[in-house]
Amino acid sequence: MEISFLSIVLSLLYLSATNVATAKHGDFVRTMDRKLLGLDKEKLSHFRLYWHDIYSGPSPTALRLVRPPSNSSGTSFGAISIIDDPLTHGPELSSKLLGRAQGFYAQASQQQVGLLMVMNFAFTQGEYNGSTITVLGRNPVFDKVREMPVIGGSGRFRFARGYVQVRTYKFNQSTGDATVEYNVYVLHY
Ligand SMILES: *[C@@H]1O[C@H](CO)[C@@H](O)[C@H](O)[C@H]1NC(C)=O
Ligand SMILES: *[C@@H]1O[C@H](CO)[C@@H](O)[C@H](O)[C@H]1NC(C)=O
Ligand SMILES: *[C@@H]1O[C@H](CO)[C@@H](O)[C@H](O)[C@H]1NC(C)=O
Repeated sequence: MEISFLSIVLSLLYLSATNVATAKHGDFVRTMDRKLLGLDKEKLSHFRLYWHDIYSGPSPTALRLVRPPSNSSGTSFGAISIIDDPLTHGPELSSKLLGRAQGFYAQASQQQVGLLMVMNFAFTQGEYNGSTITVLGRNPVFDKVREMPVIGGSGRFRFARGYVQVRTYKFNQSTGDATVEYNVYVLHY
């Protein structure tokens, strides 16, 4: 009883707020109270994940789509790979799967190996199941620590912003397989 009364009052308040906003901005945009979307308390989370880029074996998670011209430069400038890489809790591929990194990277530097990375981290565990964050940035892979921006997100990560710091954990020069530690620092609601 009390709850339904409260919800009626709230929806009346909401409707009147909508009408006021409509009057002010026209019918395609309105100012909203962020609390209506539960956006009042921003928090900072740190996730540590291991990202596995696998070219070898029967089920690769990374495909080189575009090969660089044979002598474009010593850095494979122009190469493009598409990935659906597992994100795991620990550095071993067999450890708990937390989600997948889906996207692509391109070798966009002529002076060193420097990737442009464009990825969605699609989480599949617990309260983050179905939520994503988007990482877009520059990754000079032979630097000890690389930093890339988190430029947004969905679900639990709506309005996300932040950065990742990444360190190569393991790299096999002959296959191209890599395991990389990702520390994700993200502000979200
Ligand atoms: C690149 O390859 C082409 C064709 O093989 C050759 O003519 C050219 O000199 C090469 N350029 C460099 C910088 O090696
Ligand atoms: C994650 O969500 C999907 C789709 O709703 C569901 O099928 C799956 O069982 C969920 N996984 C976990 C671990 O909760
Ligand atoms: C790299 O991968 C190849 C093929 O799987 C394997 O034989 C070799 O031992 C690996 N090297 C390292 C350093 O792990």
